[in-house]
Amino acid sequence: MRAAVYRSFGGPDVVRVEELPKPAPQADEVLVRVHASTVSVGDYRMRTRDLPKGLEFFGPLTIGIFAPRKKILGMDFAGVIEAVGAGVTRFKPGDAVVGLTGMKFGGHAEYVTLKQTEAMVLKPEGWSFEDAVALVFGGHTVAECIRQCPIRPGDEVLVNGASGAVGTSAVQVAKHFGAVVTAVTSAGNAELVRSLGADYVIDYKAEDFTKNGKQYDVIFECVGNAPFERAEPALKPGGTLLLVIVDLKGMLGAGKNSRRSGKRVIPISFKPRPEDVAFEIELAKAGALRPVIDRIHQLDQVVEAHRHVDTGRKRGSVVLQLAG
Ligand SMILES: NC(=O)c1ccc[n+]([C@@H]2O[C@H](COP(=O)([O-])OP(=O)(O)OC[C@H]3O[C@@H](n4cnc5c(N)ncnc54)[C@H](OP(=O)(O)O)[C@@H]3O)[C@@H](O)[C@H]2O)c1
Repeated sequence: MRAAVYRSFGGPDVVRVEELPKPAPQADEVLVRVHASTVSVGDYRMRTRDLPKGLEFFGPLTIGIFAPRKKILGMDFAGVIEAVGAGVTRFKPGDAVVGLTGMKFGGHAEYVTLKQTEAMVLKPEGWSFEDAVALVFGGHTVAECIRQCPIRPGDEVLVNGASGAVGTSAVQVAKHFGAVVTAVTSAGNAELVRSLGADYVIDYKAEDFTKNGKQYDVIFECVGNAPFERAEPALKPGGTLLLVIVDLKGMLGAGKNSRRSGKRVIPISFKPRPEDVAFEIELAKAGALRPVIDRIHQLDQVVEAHRHVDTGRKRGSVVLQLAG
């Protein structure tokens, strides 16, 4: 099978398309012919080992010390099940599926194997593989946020980093649950976030949301520049800060900051769950969540895809096509 492989850490050019043996499913696994995946910030972090402050010391233990442990990136996939192991009951060959490999990676290959119990659901009929996969990374993260902090009608919600993969999902999901949504983004993305349901837009180059005197019930922090110390003035009493991106200090201090301030500080961890993928797909089927695709690249253009992700300016998802 063809796969995008990286054998050393570094910039986009370390990724190469190689021919590798096709994997075979174990008894409780399915073999998926991958049609599409995305190149995400998760891939960027693995490839460069650019991790939030303090975590860079632990990173090498999981990512690899001298060379990457997982040679194929890609945290998500949409494709068709080609074969199943003897013990598989939930899926059958021919099923079109969408899901997350998560920290196992491997989505940037023509084939991937997953346990039948992992984060994978049937792809809605009539959806393209590209649309389905573009939802998963951000939508799943927001599903985890909503589990920790349900949004109530009338809540005032701010999304910092509203035009990225997570932010575009957060704006839509918060709006769906009845929130009044403020999106923080650059001026060029104002129209996009409004089209997703944002009621108000703050251009971060013109205004600092932590200093304008406004307060919110819930803040989704998806940029990495609004830890509790900075975001606190923008939280209402009893409000919640969802730290989608958080450094070691923010992680360790979350409990203490919550107790001291009476505001909830919740670091979000990446735990792919089938029920979260099912949740976001149901929202999408109901019309509450639509994919935002920045661009689509063929597998042979994988380096270009990584290059765009590295800019930190992508809008929604960068999709990688592995089969037509
Ligand atoms: N905890 C978890 O489970 C989890 C899961 C997924 C992602 N993450 C982390 O969450 C972060 C966001 O992920 P993502 O996939 O959404 O990233 P992304 O798609 O790369 O986000 C790119 C967006 O960030 C915006 N941005 C850049 N600087 C900004 C600023 N100062 N203020 C507001 N917006 C800004 C850009 O908008 P402009 O072009 O308008 O600047 C761009 O549209 C990443 O750090 C990622 O590692 C964590």
